Order: sequence, then structure tokens, then C-alpha cells
Amino acid sequence: MKLSYGRMLQDQLEGSEGLPRARLDSLAERFPAIQAEVRDRRGKGEYGFYRLIDQPDTVREISTFADGLGQAHDHVLVLGIGGSALGAKALLNALRPPAWNELDDEGREFFPRLTVLENVDPTSIGAALRRIDPRRVLVNVISKSGGTAETMAQYLVVRAWLEDALGAAAYRHLVFTTDPARGALRELARTDGIATLDVPPEVGGRFSVLSPVGLLPAALVGIDISELLAGAGRAVARAEADGLRQNAAALWAALMYAADTELGAPIHVLMPYTDRLREFAEWYRQLWAESLGKRENRAGKTVLAGPTPLAAVGATDQHSQVQLFMEGPRDKAITFITVEQLSEDLPIPAREHLPAELAYLAGHTLGGLLRAEYEATSTALAQMGRMNCTLRLPDLSAGTLGELIMFFQLATGYAGVWYGVDPFDQPGVELGKRLTYGAMGRPGFDPQPRPSGDATDEA
Ligand code: PA5
Repeated sequence: MKLSYGRMLQDQLEGSEGLPRARLDSLAERFPAIQAEVRDRRGKGEYGFYRLIDQPDTVREISTFADGLGQAHDHVLVLGIGGSALGAKALLNALRPPAWNELDDEGREFFPRLTVLENVDPTSIGAALRRIDPRRVLVNVISKSGGTAETMAQYLVVRAWLEDALGAAAYRHLVFTTDPARGALRELARTDGIATLDVPPEVGGRFSVLSPVGLLPAALVGIDISELLAGAGRAVARAEADGLRQNAAALWAALMYAADTELGAPIHVLMPYTDRLREFAEWYRQLWAESLGKRENRAGKTVLAGPTPLAAVGATDQHSQVQLFMEGPRDKAITFITVEQLSEDLPIPAREHLPAELAYLAGHTLGGLLRAEYEATSTALAQMGRMNCTLRLPDLSAGTLGELIMFFQLATGYAGVWYGVDPFDQPGVELGKRLTYGAMGRPGFDPQPRPSGDATDEA
């Protein structure tokens, strides 16, 4: 994987936009201190996700589980939200053939279908439960805390649905992925004899895709989880470099930090040129937003920090958001992802009597068109003085995806230090949670949240 970042720099953009090279030099000079702080915090156990590259016992446990119980079911239903759902969706989307759930058994190489319920919208959950056969399903309830309201509500609905169909055997269709000791889910597992996998306590929710949170669903649908971790290991090895320009994840984080705090570009777009990374861009959005959007810095000072991540997909969004990227406010830095060797390409056939304005397409391939569209968009943005950079993947395999996942996790860890915030907490979601608990009648919480402006001023 390579990061091309020239178009983030002033001397490669039209006008006076972009980062002056001298400023990149001064970021590089500051980097050893950033790296030292990350090392120090790793030593204290804060950056637990680094350790996920080395978990042979967990890989064995998951593989055994997937080969045994997993294969006895033809549908895996994941219940989770946020960091407990987005990773599994990204892995499925990137590494299994498109429209996986619509393929027959042979098309899926006899691996199960996979559905992720990540909301409490009754219209989607009701539809999923009507579609899935409870006798053939394995339900993986994923919650690190083991008490998240949305996931627990999903669980209660799904558990009743299983029991209606299977009676006392329902528990055999459940596996929980949760904290090894704490939380309601762990307690339920103990009392009901439900199989469990542990979420390492030192790994935060949105950094947990390479823990059993993402690895179990991935293994169940036949993704090579050892390769995934090997790829992540390559990213960690590169991130040991103390020179900023040699450390791609740290460099990207520094460029985005500078774009936000010095260059007036707080909006950070991730735009892969493949449908297979559409869900990955959604995963990135949560990682970047929830980790860096913070009211206070580590010293307790109000900073209201945080870039705004945006997900896009090329070439589709060239006909949606790119007009804004090109001519709207100069408040964005765009990161493209390209895949050199797509798993499939299709020739664009020539036909007789094609209108002249279509003839140029014939003889090319769809993959070639996609590549040309990326090149053109990146160049056009640079000509308009718009900062952009590109992560170039040789292919989309478990190894390269593992590397890509870890790249963004490492970058987020570095960005936390640049911004001076704790990238692993999320205090801002607590108030909304408490108000929800109150509204739902949970003991100890105010049952009457004060009416908001939304409720009192209506048109
Ligand atoms: O990144 C995070 O910590 C959050 O997005 C969590 O993943 C999300 O709130 C779900 O939490 P839990 O896994 O405890 O149910």
C-alpha cells in the first residue's frame, strides 16, 4: 500500500492552497515527540489495538468455532451498533463477492449468509426476522460493554423470536462477543450457558474490528482472518518508523491535522474508487468522528476539536458530491483509495453503428474507465487548488484490507496526539444516553427530559 500525498502540498496545487513544504518539514521535526507519546501511552496499555496483530490463540478459537458451529447454520445474524457493527459490514462488503446474501450455497462456497442489524428501526428488524429461518440461524450478539440499549433491545426481540421457534434450544443459536468479566451480556451468558468470545478490555469499540468483534463474523463467512492480521501487522511495522515521511499512517494523520487546523479544511472526505470499500468508508467515518470530535483536550481545556469525516464513492459521487468538492468552499481534504488489480474487469464491447460520441468507450474496460475517472478527478481537483491524496492498494485481499484498517487506526491514534485529545473515549454520547434511559423509564434516570426547542417550536 502506498500513500501519494503530493497534491496535499502547495507546490503541486494551483493557486496558493495546500501545505507549504517547509511546514511539512516542521511537522516532521515535531513527529519524534508525537511518536514518543504514542510509545509511552502504548507502554501504559492505552493503545491496545496495536496488540491485535498477535493473537494466535484467539485466531485458533475463532477458526475452530467457525468450522464447527458456524458451518451448521446458513445465516449469521449480527446484533450490534457503532464499533460493534460497522467493521463486520466493511469486511463482508470488501472481501466477499457482491450481493453475498443473494448468492446460492455454491456461490457462497457453502458459507452462511450474513446480516448485520445495527439499528432499532422496527421496519428493518421486522423484515429481517421474517426473511431469516430461526432454525438455520446463528445469532452473534456483539457488545463490548454488554449493556448498550439498542443492542440489548435487539437481543430481547431476537431471543423471543428464537424461543418462539425453537423453545429451550434457542440458546444454542446464540454466541455473545463481550467483555470477559463485566456487563449484562456476560451475566446472561453465564446464567443461560451461552457460548462467548472476549472483547479485550484494552481495545475500544471502534478500534475492535480486528478483535473477535470483527474476526468471528469474518471467519464465519470464510474470510482468511490470519491474512487480515498479517496485513495489519505490516501496517504496525511501518508505523515503528521515527521519520514522518517513512511512516505513512503518521504522515496522513499529520497532513489531515494540518489541513484542519492550519489550512481551513476541517472536512476529511474518504472516497474509494470501488464499491467494495463503500462500507469501509462508513467505518472510517465513525473512527475519525468519534475518536477526534472532543470538547476538551487531555488537559481539560475546552477545545471543541475534531475534523468532520465524509464518506463518498467513486465514480458514483462524481455525479453527486464532486461538484461541491471542486467549486464549493475550500474546506475539504480528500483521500482517494484506488485498487490496482480489481478482482474482476469487464470489457466495454464495440458495436456497429455506435453514435460517434459513444465510440470512444468501446475497446476499453469498466476497470479502465474507473481508473481514468479517478485520475481525472484527482487532477481536476488539484487544478482547482483542492487538496487531495491517494492510498494505492495493489489488490483487495484480506491482507491489504487488514493493512488498510490498521493504517486508519494508527492514523487515528497519532491524530489524537496531534489534537491533544483522548481518541479512545466518547463522553459526548453520554447525555443522549441518559435522556433516552429516562424516557424509557430506567430507574435512577430523570423520566421527564426537558422539552427541547424541537418539541416546543414546530411548524
Ligand atoms: O466506538 C465505540 O466505543 C462505540 O461506537 C461503541 O462501539 C458502540 O457504542 C457500541 O458499544 P458496545 O460495543 O459497548 O455495545
